[in-house]
Amino acid sequence: VKFTVEDQDGNRQEVEAPMDMGLSLMEVLKASDYPILATCGGMALCATCHVEILDGPSELGEATDVELDQLENLPEYYPTSRLSCQIRISDELDGAVIKLRGEDV
Ligand code: FES
Repeated sequence: VKFTVEDQDGNRQEVEAPMDMGLSLMEVLKASDYPILATCGGMALCATCHVEILDGPSELGEATDVELDQLENLPEYYPTSRLSCQIRISDELDGAVIKLRGEDV
Protein backbone atom coordinates (compact mmCIF):
# COMPACT_ATOMS: atom_id res chain seq x y z
CA VAL A 1 0.00 0.00 0.00
CA LYS A 2 1.04 3.56 -0.57
CA PHE A 3 0.04 6.51 1.53
CA THR A 4 1.20 10.05 2.11
CA VAL A 5 2.93 11.29 5.23
CA GLU A 6 3.06 14.94 6.15
CA ASP A 7 5.78 15.84 8.62
CA GLN A 8 5.72 18.61 11.23
CA ASP A 9 7.02 21.10 8.68
CA GLY A 10 4.24 20.31 6.22
CA ASN A 11 6.46 18.38 3.81
CA ARG A 12 4.59 15.53 2.16
CA GLN A 13 6.12 12.33 0.98
CA GLU A 14 4.68 9.09 -0.31
CA VAL A 15 5.51 6.04 1.75
CA GLU A 16 5.11 2.47 0.59
CA ALA A 17 4.56 -0.29 3.11
CA PRO A 18 4.26 -4.07 2.79
CA MET A 19 0.92 -5.49 3.90
CA ASP A 20 2.01 -9.02 4.61
CA MET A 21 4.35 -8.42 7.53
CA GLY A 22 1.86 -7.47 10.23
CA LEU A 23 3.57 -4.13 10.79
CA SER A 24 2.02 -1.17 12.52
CA LEU A 25 2.00 2.25 10.97
CA MET A 26 4.37 3.40 13.73
CA GLU A 27 6.92 0.73 12.75
CA VAL A 28 6.74 1.74 9.11
CA LEU A 29 7.14 5.43 9.95
CA LYS A 30 10.17 4.68 12.08
CA ALA A 31 11.66 2.51 9.37
CA SER A 32 11.13 5.40 6.95
CA ASP A 33 13.27 7.57 9.25
CA TYR A 34 10.49 9.72 10.58
CA PRO A 35 11.42 11.02 14.02
CA ILE A 36 8.90 9.15 16.11
CA LEU A 37 10.04 8.34 19.61
CA ALA A 38 7.64 5.47 20.28
CA THR A 39 9.14 5.15 23.74
CA CYS A 40 6.68 2.48 24.82
CA GLY A 41 7.45 0.32 21.81
CA GLY A 42 3.89 0.18 20.54
CA MET A 43 2.01 -0.56 23.75
CA ALA A 44 -0.35 2.44 23.44
CA LEU A 45 1.26 3.92 26.55
CA CYS A 46 3.41 6.85 25.49
CA ALA A 47 1.39 8.66 22.79
CA THR A 48 4.60 9.87 21.13
CA CYS A 49 3.46 8.09 17.98
CA HIS A 50 0.44 10.41 17.67
CA VAL A 51 -0.74 11.03 14.12
CA GLU A 52 -3.75 12.77 12.64
CA ILE A 53 -5.56 11.14 9.73
CA LEU A 54 -6.05 13.99 7.29
CA ASP A 55 -7.60 11.81 4.64
CA GLY A 56 -8.59 8.18 4.71
CA PRO A 57 -11.53 5.88 5.43
CA SER A 58 -13.42 6.78 8.58
CA GLU A 59 -12.38 3.58 10.33
CA LEU A 60 -8.84 4.86 10.31
CA GLY A 61 -9.87 7.92 12.24
CA GLU A 62 -11.61 6.10 15.07
CA ALA A 63 -9.43 5.55 18.06
CA THR A 64 -10.10 2.69 20.45
CA ASP A 65 -10.77 3.37 24.13
CA VAL A 66 -7.20 2.49 25.00
CA GLU A 67 -5.95 5.04 22.54
CA LEU A 68 -8.42 7.67 23.64
CA ASP A 69 -7.16 7.41 27.20
CA GLN A 70 -3.72 8.37 25.92
CA LEU A 71 -4.86 10.96 23.41
CA GLU A 72 -6.98 12.76 25.98
CA ASN A 73 -3.89 13.38 28.06
CA LEU A 74 -2.21 15.23 25.23
CA PRO A 75 -2.25 19.02 25.18
CA GLU A 76 -3.82 18.87 21.72
CA TYR A 77 -5.59 16.18 19.81
CA TYR A 78 -7.90 16.10 16.84
CA PRO A 79 -11.13 14.34 15.89
CA THR A 80 -9.17 11.91 13.72
CA SER A 81 -6.16 11.55 15.98
CA ARG A 82 -4.75 8.05 16.32
CA LEU A 83 -1.79 6.33 17.87
CA SER A 84 0.11 5.06 14.86
CA CYS A 85 1.27 1.98 16.78
CA GLN A 86 -2.37 0.88 16.97
CA ILE A 87 -2.93 1.02 13.21
CA ARG A 88 -2.06 -2.15 11.33
CA ILE A 89 -0.88 -1.75 7.79
CA SER A 90 -3.78 -2.78 5.60
CA ASP A 91 -5.23 -1.81 2.26
CA GLU A 92 -7.44 0.68 4.07
CA LEU A 93 -4.34 2.85 4.34
CA ASP A 94 -4.00 3.02 0.59
CA GLY A 95 -4.15 6.66 -0.46
CA ALA A 96 -4.53 7.94 3.10
CA VAL A 97 -2.83 11.13 4.24
CA ILE A 98 -1.22 10.95 7.66
CA LYS A 99 0.05 13.96 9.56
CA LEU A 100 2.69 13.47 12.24
CA ARG A 101 1.54 14.97 15.52
CA GLY A 102 3.88 13.37 17.98
CA GLU A 103 5.67 15.57 20.45
CA ASP A 104 9.42 15.90 20.48
CA VAL A 105 9.81 15.24 16.79
FE1 FES B 1 3.84 4.44 22.44
FE2 FES B 1 2.35 4.24 20.23
S1 FES B 1 4.44 3.82 20.46
S2 FES B 1 1.75 4.87 22.19
